[in-house]
Amino acid sequence: MPNPTADDRKRAAALKALEFVRPGMIVGLGTGSTAAHFVQALGKKVKAGLQITGVPTSASAHALAVDAGIPLTTVDEAPQIDLTVDGADEADRQFRLIKGAGAAHLREKIVASASRRMIAIMDDSKLVEVLGRFPLSVEIVPFAHKTTMRRIAEAAVQAGCQGNFTRLRGGDAHPAVTDNGNLVADLDCEMIPDPTALATALSAIPGVVEHGLFIGICSTLIVGRGDGVEVIDAMRPSDAG
Ligand code: 5RP
Repeated sequence: MPNPTADDRKRAAALKALEFVRPGMIVGLGTGSTAAHFVQALGKKVKAGLQITGVPTSASAHALAVDAGIPLTTVDEAPQIDLTVDGADEADRQFRLIKGAGAAHLREKIVASASRRMIAIMDDSKLVEVLGRFPLSVEIVPFAHKTTMRRIAEAAVQAGCQGNFTRLRGGDAHPAVTDNGNLVADLDCEMIPDPTALATALSAIPGVVEHGLFIGICSTLIVGRGDGVEVIDAMRPSDAG
């Protein structure tokens, strides 16, 4: 395809991920525009006879999956999920992700962590050398949220980040509210030199429900590029095609 758009590259990655779905699998269904391509394509396969069961990661993924005709279950009913396919805001080649632009990262992390395998699908603008150019989403409880946000900025400094700036998603007048009734702080670090240190520091703050760093959860990246799709797998050499 000449000059594929970012959305074309997202769709190409999503279609490649379909090759990893096997009959009988329980499949975690991610949130966002790239994951939506996957859910819609998976729905077509289901209509054509593929038997799988989906576990949505958000209210929007649930609605999309219902529209696509995918039979659904929950994490509690199917604690062992075979495969989760989800988008990402950024990824590095150590399979560390930033997620949460759709404010769904808490449920996404619960579903991905309950899965044997997580595949992250994305266009090539998301694959980076160093995480952090994209703001990190941190889900926080509404109570004392300004104090929690100050602590988030302090934790970022302690973890070696610079230029730390937190803002409440949606602003004070109309804050964004997650599916879980919480708020989202966006942490702008520009660069996260030590994602593990930042993840540990954020998880220790009372008032933080979950941050959008996924470390040690994802093992495969599928990257849609102008000239094809690259599969980067923790267990295998990179393959483009
Ligand atoms: C939602 C997410 C999304 O997967 C992430 O924001 C990528 O979105 P998109 O595929 O629309 O670029 O983490 O919480």
